[in-house]
Amino acid sequence: MNLKRADVFIHDTAVVAPDAVIGAGTKIWHYVHVREHAKIGTHCVLGKDVYIDHYVAIGNGVKIQNGVSVYQGVTLEDEVFVGPNAVFTNDLLPRSQHTTWRVVETVVERGASIGANATIVCGVRLGAHCMVGAGAVVVKNVPPHALVVGNPAKVAGYVCSCGHHLHRDYPIVNSALYQFVCESCKRAYELPALEALPQETVRAGVDGIRFVHHNFDEDTLRAVAGVLQSGWVAGCGGESARFEKKLAELSRCEYAVAMNSCTSALFASLSALEIGKEDEVIVADFSFPASGMSVLQVGATPRFAEVRLDTYNLELEKLATLVTNRTKAVMVVHTFGQMAPMRELSALCKKHGLLLIEDAACAIGASHDGIVCGELSDLACYSFHGRKIITTGEGGAVVTNNRELYQKLRAISSLGVDASDKFRAGGPLRYGFQQLGYNFRLSDLNCAIGLQQLHHLPALLERRREFAGNYRHALRDLPELILPYVDPKADHAYQAFVCRLSHEKLRDHLMAELKKKNIHTTIGTYAQHREPLFASRDICPNSGQLYETTITLPFHSFLGPAQIEYVAEQVMIAISV
Ligand SMILES: Cc1ncc(COP(=O)(O)O)c(C=O)c1O
Repeated sequence: MNLKRADVFIHDTAVVAPDAVIGAGTKIWHYVHVREHAKIGTHCVLGKDVYIDHYVAIGNGVKIQNGVSVYQGVTLEDEVFVGPNAVFTNDLLPRSQHTTWRVVETVVERGASIGANATIVCGVRLGAHCMVGAGAVVVKNVPPHALVVGNPAKVAGYVCSCGHHLHRDYPIVNSALYQFVCESCKRAYELPALEALPQETVRAGVDGIRFVHHNFDEDTLRAVAGVLQSGWVAGCGGESARFEKKLAELSRCEYAVAMNSCTSALFASLSALEIGKEDEVIVADFSFPASGMSVLQVGATPRFAEVRLDTYNLELEKLATLVTNRTKAVMVVHTFGQMAPMRELSALCKKHGLLLIEDAACAIGASHDGIVCGELSDLACYSFHGRKIITTGEGGAVVTNNRELYQKLRAISSLGVDASDKFRAGGPLRYGFQQLGYNFRLSDLNCAIGLQQLHHLPALLERRREFAGNYRHALRDLPELILPYVDPKADHAYQAFVCRLSHEKLRDHLMAELKKKNIHTTIGTYAQHREPLFASRDICPNSGQLYETTITLPFHSFLGPAQIEYVAEQVMIAISV
């Protein structure tokens, strides 16, 4: 049915639903179809064959050229231009037989222009006054004023709101921005350098907000290529020696042994400490079960210890209640990168004659009261798995100040080999195999990546701390969401940003809602005593509560303030529904 109004022009061939809202001065041309509940602002022009779906919202002064379909979920703000035959999609997983189809939103901000035949894949935001080149396929957010071209669309420059190119002029003092000036109208803008855009601006596009991510730079690619070209790719080459030296240095330790995972490192550590059958090891309960599993692997019994609700770390006051005459060691976990109070813990272990092992899988670069991982314990184990602060793909290491332990670790991780001269007797190189060992070596390819990662570690930590601050600020007024507490003496490394909800249902609801927005999260971590493998009778109610109520929000060194703001916005929306 057609609507006839004096203040709008609707061509006789157009079909406009009676409940569609059309603003004054708008012109709707041949064969346009405007569906129910669509809302079109004032002074818009809709060319021939345009299709406006249910509930689409279009601002004022928008111009849509011939043959464009604007599907449900798309919002076009004021003064947007859409060129002929541009396509919007609204389904991320298009299949002809769809049972769980849902609309994914796309927003085109004020003054943006979309060229002819461009395709805008749903779930993106096109920033104000950006320009999408003809035929481009946009799969990620486009920053304001950016010009994007190609398939997939990439930033090729900046454009003024008048449409002409912007040239970079000079850096703005005390900021990461530059002044950009229009080559035509001379208008000036303060914008990030183009090189800085991809990391900072990608929001929930097709890939969604990644929960974890690493960027490897050219130097890393060159370092890996160098190892490949050298032909020396196995473990124990020059790269692994250099990697171990740097790891030992940053841990204020004499020795480091790189291994193929933190789980291997924990197992090798317990073996080197001669912990086995009949022994008990007290393990912080709230952790990834690799911690407790390593104790089982050497035949000993893990005794799971309660943690604090605020820092998620060991509750020191309750630790002594677990000590028995079988207890050999304590395995502390520096949860999500916050180091436990090592001075107090080391004193406690000394008092009870216990060895101290640090599961520092998540805590490289962290400190507590000036103490770093490895400094006050018998040994500390790092992980370089892809979810960690720095990564070698898979990987781990043990650091220690104990020479004897170091020698044992080297042997255990390398098939029990004794490489000393005593087996050569002046003849050709041959090893002695005196003890049971394993192949836990980390290849030189991985170590080359690790060395580059260590080089970037200070900058990565700085970014993580800054991003944690951004999350804290953006989420500060949500009573249902308890932000991670940082002990004033701790320098948190933020392997993850883990918050606590007031109850389990809300946590699960939040995770499900964020998933719908393509924002990836996980639970915090595990209450190990509850896992059937351990058949534990230990009681750790705080840990159980954390297992049920914590959520790990997307967090990595390349996230950027814009994405954090977006995630926080979506968290607030999800909690309020
Ligand atoms: C606390 C903790 N310990 C140990 C591990 C095991 O590390 P990897 O994957 O390097 O074996 C992890 C891995 O997530 C962990 O979080």
